Amino acid sequence: MLVKEVKYSPLNVELIRKDFPILQRLVNNYPLIYFDNGATTQKPLQVIEAITHYYTHTNSNIHRGVHTLSRESTEAFELARKTIAAHFNIKNDQQLIFTSGTTDSINIIANGLSRSILKDGDEIILSAYEHHSNILAWQLWAEQHNGKLKVIPLKEDHSLDYDALKNLVTAKTKVIAITHVSNTLGLVTDLEKVKKVAEKHNCILVVDGAQSAPHMKVDLEKLNVDFFVCSAHKIYGPTGTGILYMNKKWLNDLPITKPGGGTIKTVSFEKTEYAEGALRFEAGTPNIEAVIGFAAAINYINRFGMEAIHKHELDLVNYAQYKLSGIPEVIVYGQNPDKAAVISFNVKNAHPFDVGTLLDKYGIAVRTGHHCTQPLMSILCVPGTVRISFALYNTKQEIDFFIEKLKKVITMLM
Ligand SMILES: Cc1ncc(COP(=O)(O)O)c(C=O)c1O
Repeated sequence: MLVKEVKYSPLNVELIRKDFPILQRLVNNYPLIYFDNGATTQKPLQVIEAITHYYTHTNSNIHRGVHTLSRESTEAFELARKTIAAHFNIKNDQQLIFTSGTTDSINIIANGLSRSILKDGDEIILSAYEHHSNILAWQLWAEQHNGKLKVIPLKEDHSLDYDALKNLVTAKTKVIAITHVSNTLGLVTDLEKVKKVAEKHNCILVVDGAQSAPHMKVDLEKLNVDFFVCSAHKIYGPTGTGILYMNKKWLNDLPITKPGGGTIKTVSFEKTEYAEGALRFEAGTPNIEAVIGFAAAINYINRFGMEAIHKHELDLVNYAQYKLSGIPEVIVYGQNPDKAAVISFNVKNAHPFDVGTLLDKYGIAVRTGHHCTQPLMSILCVPGTVRISFALYNTKQEIDFFIEKLKKVITMLM
């Protein structure tokens, strides 16, 4: 059945593409079509140049130096914190902690809570969508403390069953840790519904924003959750950094599990007084150039605005879903007109790896496999899927080429 096509799109994508040198590349003698943005996005010149400028002009360690380079590096690093905090509407930039990325942030939260709030036998609620990163840290804790992980199930349309969530909560439920957007299906969690349940039962709400921050406006003041985490490399920034936002009260209440240089006020062999604010959680030399590159990425996307990016990507997702729905051999999972820029599908009777390998012959980069969501794959009863995921530089022409080659691949595999 053909699904309805929805139209938007005011971005000047032709100009935007010139900012991304890698998009000029040929892969297997075809112009690269990069549809693996859910794994990591490509980087614009503005980010690459910010990193080069840092290393050619400013490189020095931050926070403790009195010399010019150290002061300049510190200023650039702290300006980056302000830039990124403003983007997410975090009023107090000390609530924004730099980590090595989403996975690191979740580990810091889970380890911290395991030393304070979580007690033996407690329960944590996750959803069927979760990336392994938002399962494993909680599961490790549960295994060691006789704890229990409960899972919000899917409805038939692959959206989350929020009524079931209400029934999962008990007096022992301490945390709800949930993804904002499914990295496999692109479906968006209704955080307001989850928040209501969390507030009613006094549960801590942890939101994995790895796949929402790249695609939609995230206002953390308005969202007002306990923790929100995401990675720079999925938002046009460098690898190796990301953020851990925590609600103000956690700045003091979350126990430190990663101590080190930078996190302290004074140290003696008898006792250490820890720093206040973000530094408390930023042990050791951070990934300075990545943080500066991340701020450059945020400044870059803010030229266009998240609303325009979101609409452009919605347009692409709807166009691709519409085109895919015209191929009878294709099964799309979680089809929905209002989702982030991610589509998972399979070709009937074909392994996703074969589809992905053959598409690569035409220069088309897609992701295949379980996408670090093996429990979701089990629920969908598939070994894996082919995932296409879009960014602001993708076009309908690329989707047309992909569809043409996908049809060819299907005839090759049948
Ligand atoms: C929803 C989600 N959570 C967590 C992660 C892990 O992110 P990172 O590898 O940057 O730590 C990813 C990465 O794909 C993701 O999509």
